[in-house]
Amino acid sequence: MQIIIFDNTQDVAEHAALWVKELMLKKPGAVLGLATGSTPISLYQQLVSNHKAGLLSFKHTTTFNLDEYLGIAPNNSQSYRHFMNSNLFDHVDIDKNNTFLPTCNTGENPRVQGLAYEEKIKQAGGIDLQILGIGANGHIGFNEPTSSLASRTRIKTLTQQTLTDNARLFNADEFQPTLAMTMGIATILDAKYVLLMATGENKAQAVKDMVAGAVSAMCPASALQMHENTIVLLDKAAASQLADQEYYHWANDQNTKINQEFGLYHNY
Ligand code: PGA
Repeated sequence: MQIIIFDNTQDVAEHAALWVKELMLKKPGAVLGLATGSTPISLYQQLVSNHKAGLLSFKHTTTFNLDEYLGIAPNNSQSYRHFMNSNLFDHVDIDKNNTFLPTCNTGENPRVQGLAYEEKIKQAGGIDLQILGIGANGHIGFNEPTSSLASRTRIKTLTQQTLTDNARLFNADEFQPTLAMTMGIATILDAKYVLLMATGENKAQAVKDMVAGAVSAMCPASALQMHENTIVLLDKAAASQLADQEYYHWANDQNTKINQEFGLYHNY
């Protein structure tokens, strides 16, 4: 894992945008794995500004989102489809026919739909870069603690902590789904690169467990220790419980020097 610690959340978003931009410029037909939640919003704002400035086109981009709620329609303002349209897709030149979320309509067999999503990712050539946030309980996507590290796209029942964390986004009289379709941990590990963003004190324990804890289904993000190319972008608050912060800063200085001499090398 490459851990990069920034002074503030804006710097985290700007750096994440540089990664996405670099991929998209290098590979116009890139396949992006996208996330919802509060954390990636500032990244999407950066991508939209880049697009509006004529620096970035999504014309040939395909996207696969991590997860989607079950039991609410795509046009419901609480759906992740709506989130993606309003935070990114509506503001860039992407063909929405090439934007996918793991949906399962009423009456459809979730096992069949989950496998169909896996197949669609495969047919697109696999995910080049997967954007991730992390839950306060260490979840990635909606892979809650106890999720199999070998899991594939399927239905997950959300934990009480996730429901409580996300309750802030729902009005008191609004239906809050307790089930979701989510890419599995193995699906995420298949991505060529993973870019995980975490900001704020409430993520510090999960970040510590992910980076320095045992690989365990109790902290699904810890599975990323087994991934070859994971970059973790943190603000100071989210990094506050990491013991080796000095080392990470020093290692990044060395990486920057190597990049300056040889250029960035990404095996997309
Ligand atoms: P957040 O959610 O960005 O809203 O904190 C992250 C997550 O649950 O993966």
